[in-house]
Amino acid sequence: MMLSQGPRIIVALDFADATQALKLAQRLDPERCRVKVGKELFTRAGPALVEKLTAGGFAVFLDLKFHDIPNTVAAACAAAADLGCWMINVHAGGGTAMMTAARESLERRPRRPLLVAVTVLTSLTAADLAAIGMAGTPAEAVSRLAALAFQAGLDGVVCSAQEVAALRRELPREFLLVTPGIRPVGGDAADQARVATPVQALRAGADYLVVGRPITRAADPLQALAAIEREIEDI
Ligand code: C5P
Repeated sequence: MMLSQGPRIIVALDFADATQALKLAQRLDPERCRVKVGKELFTRAGPALVEKLTAGGFAVFLDLKFHDIPNTVAAACAAAADLGCWMINVHAGGGTAMMTAARESLERRPRRPLLVAVTVLTSLTAADLAAIGMAGTPAEAVSRLAALAFQAGLDGVVCSAQEVAALRRELPREFLLVTPGIRPVGGDAADQARVATPVQALRAGADYLVVGRPITRAADPLQALAAIEREIEDI
């Protein structure tokens, strides 16, 4: 059973360049948090930054949300594995063959990262889903796509904290649930619509909390991280 171990907080390094990302990373302790590198930072700073973070002892979630034909996604996942990432992701909407090819490509690598799928982007509304021809409510679509990801042998999904409780009922406990949209008690939601506090997300059954601006934009990021750690220490 692959239950989550180690730090449950993943700090989203949403910075425009490597200098700013490394400046914060140098102040963070890899024993206390993991880090996430997304599309903007990776497009600007590239594999060299990921390698610097892994060399610094960080578990890196490379959040590039691959979505393409199976062969292309499988090759991209293999390349991400070779960077030494801890976790990578694809879009569940790419379908079963794509997710299966991604998983199989990792089985042949010397270092196998965790592979999770994005179900429905938290920015999409019910009207958006209807417009792109996706059946059902966002919650139904999340359940359907998470089940496909599970059947394809992925390790888990990225979902909003609102969907965690339903997915915990529907899928085995070892299936990892990674939740962004986390706001500490009294925190500013900014552009996130479907937010939860760290305690709410973990109580519902989340394994990992992705936290960006509440830490990266805090006057004192280390203090902000410590405050979240205190909030969740008994859960
Ligand atoms: O700053 P904030 O805590 O809102 O950052 C959340 C992070 O999680 C961002 O890097 C964002 O891209 C990512 N994310 C998200 N919603 C998803 C998937 C990823 O907010 N569905």
